[in-house]
Amino acid sequence: MNISIITIDGPTASGKGTVARIVAEKLHFHYLDSGALYRLTALSVIRSGINPDDTGQIAEMARNLPCRFEKEHIFLGDEDVTDAIRSETIGNMASKIAAIPAVRQALTDLQTGFRKAPGLVADGRDMGTVIFPEADLKIFLTASVDIRAERRYKQLLEKGIPANIDNLRNDLIERDKRDTQRQTAPLVAAPDAITLDTSTLNIQETVERVLDLFARTIRSRS
Ligand code: DC
Repeated sequence: MNISIITIDGPTASGKGTVARIVAEKLHFHYLDSGALYRLTALSVIRSGINPDDTGQIAEMARNLPCRFEKEHIFLGDEDVTDAIRSETIGNMASKIAAIPAVRQALTDLQTGFRKAPGLVADGRDMGTVIFPEADLKIFLTASVDIRAERRYKQLLEKGIPANIDNLRNDLIERDKRDTQRQTAPLVAAPDAITLDTSTLNIQETVERVLDLFARTIRSRS
């Protein structure tokens, strides 16, 4: 049976997570939040107190990550860490450890394992370039740094997490730089990706564009 794959890559707070989740729901596809795997590894590293420079031990941790995804909830062992992994501290650590090639390698099988019938929507930084280069539709979502900082600020406040918009903007710039300049699987649009700038599009409009592009892709095949 043919398994369709849609990849949605882009920088932090471009809206890719929300868009990918809704697109997956509408199509009754599975959903992979690949950033969550880097965040889970970051949380494990911080909690275990291992040296953040010990790349071998961090990769070992990533390889044996006791994670579970249940609907909207993410578990590390038996603990529901859905909210705990969303903090900026974890996001920044995730971006740092994501630059370690052995960590990326360790998380590869876990990610490709999400490829199940009838289809998958995967969001991250290297879904279309490295993990699912065979994807049927590749989307690259962008938005200006000011818009993304504002979105992230609102998201954190809604979750009751205190935030400062200037610090958030600086963190985003730093994280973009690290994610785009790393040697292994940097954040970049795949040559065959379609770029959507969401600065002036809301979630609903972006979802509709992605669904429309997917319908066209399927039609052009038959
Ligand atoms: O999408 P996110 O903000 O939850 O991701 C957290 C960090 O994980 C991000 O700064 C870079 C890293 N990441 C990655 O390198 N590759 C992915 N496919 C997903 C996330």
